[in-house]
Amino acid sequence: MLPKKAPPAPEPFVPKKGKTPALIRGMRDILPADWPWWNLVINKVHAIARDFGFERIETPILEETSMFVRSVGKETDIVEKELFSFEDRGGDSVTMRPEGTAGVARAYLEHGMIAMPQPVKLYYLGPFFRYDRPQSGRYRQFWQCGFELFGDNHPVVDAEIIAIGATLFSELGIPVRVQVNSVGDAASRAAYVKVLTEYFRTRKSRLCEDCKRRLQKNPLRILDCKVPDCQLLTQDAPAMVDHLSEPAREHFVKTLEHLDDMDVPYDLNPRIVRGLDYYTHTAFEYVAADGVGVDKAQSALGGGGRYDGLVELFGGRPTPAVGFAAGIERTIMQLKARGVQPPVPQRPDVFLAQLGDTARRKTIKLFRELRSLGISVAATFSKTSIKAQLEAANRLRAPFTLILGQKELVDDTILMRDMENGIQEIVDFSKAVSEVQKRVQKANGEKQLVNPPATPEPPKAAA
Ligand code: HAM
Repeated sequence: MLPKKAPPAPEPFVPKKGKTPALIRGMRDILPADWPWWNLVINKVHAIARDFGFERIETPILEETSMFVRSVGKETDIVEKELFSFEDRGGDSVTMRPEGTAGVARAYLEHGMIAMPQPVKLYYLGPFFRYDRPQSGRYRQFWQCGFELFGDNHPVVDAEIIAIGATLFSELGIPVRVQVNSVGDAASRAAYVKVLTEYFRTRKSRLCEDCKRRLQKNPLRILDCKVPDCQLLTQDAPAMVDHLSEPAREHFVKTLEHLDDMDVPYDLNPRIVRGLDYYTHTAFEYVAADGVGVDKAQSALGGGGRYDGLVELFGGRPTPAVGFAAGIERTIMQLKARGVQPPVPQRPDVFLAQLGDTARRKTIKLFRELRSLGISVAATFSKTSIKAQLEAANRLRAPFTLILGQKELVDDTILMRDMENGIQEIVDFSKAVSEVQKRVQKANGEKQLVNPPATPEPPKAAA
């Protein structure tokens, strides 16, 4: 049998030079130099969640488009203009989450958390997407941390949620004031919408085209229109708080009383209606108390409110809920504007440097051994010059470096160099590990001496 003819050899792959890829507008890289600030905020979020008894939940970035349209609201800016939506390969319309509350409410319902002891307290931290006009403090991908509490309608819980956000900011060193309002319950809203419609109807010609349409469909949304002329008109519009039903008024007053009890500073602001439809009763935003580092258009560092109808809207039984979310980038901008310095990143305990192939092999083994003992080790094995390796050690702020050169290989020793004063000691190679351990333990002990743990004051004797 004749051998089969071999298929023609594939053309060699020659990569074509194209345009250099660049960041998509409104997106940002979080670079190594940014992470100390990010870690500062992220660690604080986790600590606050732990202290207040919130458990972490992360929902997917992609959800059904209809979920956001129904919850956030058809006539909101977010749904009308800002959704990152597309058809997936199966022909379903999906959206990159513009906010977290809807996804968490969906998960609460879908995983039967409604049957758990209430309240259920959840928090999340991750990226969100809005196709907004990018500017300082407003991006198309941004991060939020959010806290959501389900299954409790007591006004003290509204105050508690507001206090958690205020604590987060104040413990980060950002003094905030809470701008608080009530958007009432369904009954108050119906009454208010009537009054508001009347107000805007007589001024319709001065509204933007979008708001003319909103006047028919959802007049409340005119209140958060960003067009300057519309904003001017809304300044004199009737306020929701003047049209609250008795139960809604009572809920609001109680919430404010509890805020006083909790020493959370707030301002009543009838203009806070929030750009999302799901809110009921309390609605609030956090703004920097002293105006430092605040760009007027992006002054809200966070916001939230009660959303008692959302779980029911998704098909669950009526379940009260309240929560807030804070913008991480805006929070970091505040930290930088206030000169808050994040903690210096941790440094390695020791750096390993080597000269030549045999020494490299030996230090690779030593590296693994030290790591297995819980010692944090750094090295740049590919470097061949000691100078370059010592520079790397200095950059990482390693307190000392072990150097294995030709001479040390022959003598079965290793050099131990103090990176602060440059003093070098010769140590038997067999004692290198125990010597490093000793030094690391000493360094850790000294750290404690520099920062002795606060001794709690003895309890005072009862008078
Ligand atoms: P939100 O007010 O739309 O509320 O967003 C919360 C925070 O996210 C804002 O105060 C802001 O700091 C940040 N943020 C929003 N959009 C951008 C953007 N384009 N660029 C940078 N930062 C931004 C919500 O999302 C609700 N889900 C909050 C909530 C939770 N309500 C109840 N529970």
